[in-house]
Amino acid sequence: MAKKKTAYVCSECGANFPTWSGKCSNCGSWDTLVEEVISKQKTSGNQILKKVNPVPLTNVDKTFEFERISTNIKNLDEALGGGIVPGQVILISGEPGIGKSTLLLQLANNLAQDGKKVLYATGEESANQIYLRGERIRALNENIFILADTNFDNILDAIDKINPDFIILDSVQTVYSSELESAAGSVSQVKYVSSKLTEIAKQRNIPTVLIGQVTKEGNLAGPKVLEHLVDTVANFEGERGHAYRVLKLIKNRFGAAGEIAVFNMTSKGLEEVNDPSSFFLMEKPEGKAGSIIFPHTEGSKPVLIEIQALVSKTVYAVPQRRAQGIDINRVSIITAILEKELNIFLKDKDIFINVVGGMQIKEPAVDLPLAIAIISSVFEKPVPEGTAAFGELGLTGEVRSVYYSDLRIKECEKFGIKNIIIPYNTRVDNINVSKIKSVKQLIKDIFNK
Ligand code: TYD
Ligand code: MG
Repeated sequence: MAKKKTAYVCSECGANFPTWSGKCSNCGSWDTLVEEVISKQKTSGNQILKKVNPVPLTNVDKTFEFERISTNIKNLDEALGGGIVPGQVILISGEPGIGKSTLLLQLANNLAQDGKKVLYATGEESANQIYLRGERIRALNENIFILADTNFDNILDAIDKINPDFIILDSVQTVYSSELESAAGSVSQVKYVSSKLTEIAKQRNIPTVLIGQVTKEGNLAGPKVLEHLVDTVANFEGERGHAYRVLKLIKNRFGAAGEIAVFNMTSKGLEEVNDPSSFFLMEKPEGKAGSIIFPHTEGSKPVLIEIQALVSKTVYAVPQRRAQGIDINRVSIITAILEKELNIFLKDKDIFINVVGGMQIKEPAVDLPLAIAIISSVFEKPVPEGTAAFGELGLTGEVRSVYYSDLRIKECEKFGIKNIIIPYNTRVDNINVSKIKSVKQLIKDIFNK
């Protein structure tokens, strides 16, 4: 028998190579290349497209208007842009144990209560386990059909048989199609299963949610390879030790990206948090150095988050730098800027940063509050009560403007914050803001140094 043809496929980006190497030369990830059997099966998503002729943009059929389906979770509807669109394919990814299955079962139950037939296909758990979860969160409904199977062909059969109004696949990495020779969770399987379901979703107008596990090991295909295929990508984030969970919309073809929905994990499932700012600021200490409020947003809904810094003398030869919720490289850059611009010495100090509540912040607007928290801790001088800040720092210590200034300021004012430190070039006139140009000015204005 001829040897099966294989290739080394990157589980992060899906690129393939004839030989193995430690680093994927396409996306730069380390140790992500996995050997996979190459099969003749076409796995690209373009089977979805039917034969159509090009039309002038002005002549496009405007009758194509979709009625959004409410999830009956207000937060989630808003984050999605007003509900789910028929045929929409949503990828929800997150670490194991974060609450993806819980969220989707609640969603399934809400839709089932509205008389919709939901197919919940799971390769992760047994039907019994889903039943127990359903019992716990009161989500038992006869309109939810559970199919606990890892064979994708059986899932396709079930779709034909029960003709559902909504499909959930938990998770894409656990099912396999016998059309392909590679194992469940391999890049080709994950792509095949997802594109096939996308095809069905589009043809029959069935909204579909794919759950994707994120793992740091290379043996399961990262949900990254699916991002271009689906309409909407949402990350479910949070820390296991904390009750809060945030669903962040990374991509959305039917609404704005950057939107979030905040939840609280209780013993009876996920609860909506309608006022995330007070939730995150609940335990903010008063009169302590090293803490400041940051109005964070990447979409239409800002949340106030406390940023904390602890700067203390190190006992090690190389000082420690640790950060939770912020990229550690960003912390190093800010530290270097402060050392140079303010003439302070931090090489004999450990620096610890914490985004309270455990949220992951990726936007540059956090630079300024981060710098202020560090300076406050260095000088042991608390930031005046009721102060918030946002702005990006340039390498020469200049404070640069960021998006969504109005929304951020509005959210601060809603919580009675009367001193909002913002970049100099922001085009707003407001008695509660103080505009600053550089970190040097900051130190004069707030810390009187
Ligand atoms: P789960 O939805 O199984 O996570 P995922 O599908 O993302 O792997 O939920 C996992 C955790 O949530 C589990 O550790 C228990 C906790 N949990 C609650 O705290 N309350 C609940 O009502 C439920 C169902 C789960
Ligand atoms: Mg699960």
